[in-house]
Amino acid sequence: MIYIKTAEEIERVKAACVLTSRTLGEVAKWVKPGVTTRKLDNIAREFILDNGGKPACLGYYGFPGTLCIEVNEMVVHGFPSGYVLQEGDIVGTDLVVELDGMNGDSCYTFPVGEIDEKTARLLRVTKESLYKGIEVARAGKRIGDISNAVQTYCEHNGYSVVREMCGHGIGKSMHEDPEVPNYGRRGIGPVLKPGMCICIEPMINMGSKNVVIDSVNGWECRTRDRKPSAHYEHTVAITDGAPEILTTFDYIEAALGHETHAGDDINHVITNN
Ligand code: MF3
Ligand code: CO
Repeated sequence: MIYIKTAEEIERVKAACVLTSRTLGEVAKWVKPGVTTRKLDNIAREFILDNGGKPACLGYYGFPGTLCIEVNEMVVHGFPSGYVLQEGDIVGTDLVVELDGMNGDSCYTFPVGEIDEKTARLLRVTKESLYKGIEVARAGKRIGDISNAVQTYCEHNGYSVVREMCGHGIGKSMHEDPEVPNYGRRGIGPVLKPGMCICIEPMINMGSKNVVIDSVNGWECRTRDRKPSAHYEHTVAITDGAPEILTTFDYIEAALGHETHAGDDINHVITNN
């Protein structure tokens, strides 16, 4: 069942999203060669607890981290570990924070130091595909319109879309209906309505779309061909007008020293208004 939220509930989801985004901004300050992924996880957990939130993934069906850590060929659900980040790696940090009974969910894939041009293009296209999906997240459209926008953009750029994992609704639970696949046909699936909160999260591979789940721990999901995969995610509220992006990469971009200004995320979607 798709739960339509009141304005008050959406404000609470938004508060959880702001803490999620601020936490990833703290993590961003530590992403560099020589740092372990466990250090990133500790930074995130401590910042969330200091700010009255709960790391929602930690202990979720036994998941051992605050962050899901996605180094190079890791697609999703990687464990924080003693792995030391190397120049040229990419690392995704996927985070869900619960605050005041609501959840926020966001993911950003970082370059570690200097990365090669080919991998940088994968990151750029994957992030752009997220905004292609958000652009069509409007009342009256269907989930399939989002899915198709993401898939079309990524495949036209020569990449493949992971099938096994999807975006999702969010609110009191981190995973609610509807599912939000990153592939599919326009015009199919549930109709979008004001008051829905959904997470759009393209997981895009440089090589083939196939993935393998770790047979020992049952969580870690890697590309079968061991080529890199990128992942970006925002939590978005459906409104009467333009989609409202509840998470933001502004804190991350500021930490990375990129030129940004408040509201940069929403500026990605003011076209087609
Ligand atoms: N953003 C991830 C998702 O939507 C969070 C997974 S948390 C975990 O699936 F605990 F399942 F790892
Ligand atoms: Co998610």
